[in-house]
Amino acid sequence: MIPINTLTAIQSRRSIPNFKNEDVQRNILQAIFTYGSYAPTHYMKEPWRIKLYEKKGTRKLVEAIIASYQHLGMLKSADADPAAQKMTDSMRRFLLKIPHHAVIYFPRETDPARYDEAYASVCTFIQNAQLAAWEYGVGMLWTNPPYMYDQAFYTDIGLDYKTDKIVAVMQIGYPAKIPLFKGRTPIADKMTFITEE
Ligand SMILES: Cc1cc2nc3c(=O)[nH]c(=O)nc-3n(C[C@H](O)[C@H](O)[C@H](O)COP(=O)(O)O)c2cc1C
Repeated sequence: MIPINTLTAIQSRRSIPNFKNEDVQRNILQAIFTYGSYAPTHYMKEPWRIKLYEKKGTRKLVEAIIASYQHLGMLKSADADPAAQKMTDSMRRFLLKIPHHAVIYFPRETDPARYDEAYASVCTFIQNAQLAAWEYGVGMLWTNPPYMYDQAFYTDIGLDYKTDKIVAVMQIGYPAKIPLFKGRTPIADKMTFITEE
């Protein structure tokens, strides 16, 4: 592990869309999410939950994703025609090649303030994990795909839409290539100091 300081990690981390064909060891994945769990958490609820798909386990997730895209009308049924079959196969191949997928979710809260706190805390958990991963040379892509809002998808992966809320589906692995920095707007453009009554 190369030591990087916090500020450098924050600046140099990139979202990684392509991965090497190499698994990240389980103890490293556990360390990454352990660092994630140092996130701030109101009432010490630690609301984050993780389903980590890898190896043959990924198939279960990928079939649920494909079923959801079909069910949402975003992908034709594979037996509809050869083009649909080709598209389904190519999506399946692409998703199966990603070394690890993490579905990050939390138990839904009925009170709006508690819900926001839990959601916010899980987001900080994810960003902590992304930064820790970067330090281990591991890349992540935070995704917010349409199936995250599909009740049937929740059921297919053993969650309950009524009581669980998915925050992100993370793609994880060693980066094949690190994308260029896209830049950021100077913060002065977005920041107002209020100094007088
Ligand atoms: C809540 C959230 C959802 C995102 N969803 C996607 C996504 O679905 N697909 C994707 O390619 N990137 C997604 N991203 C990653 C952004 O595209 C990425 O952070 C942005 O392009 C800036 O790149 P950087 O992270 O390398 O600085 C998401 C990021 C966040 C915070």
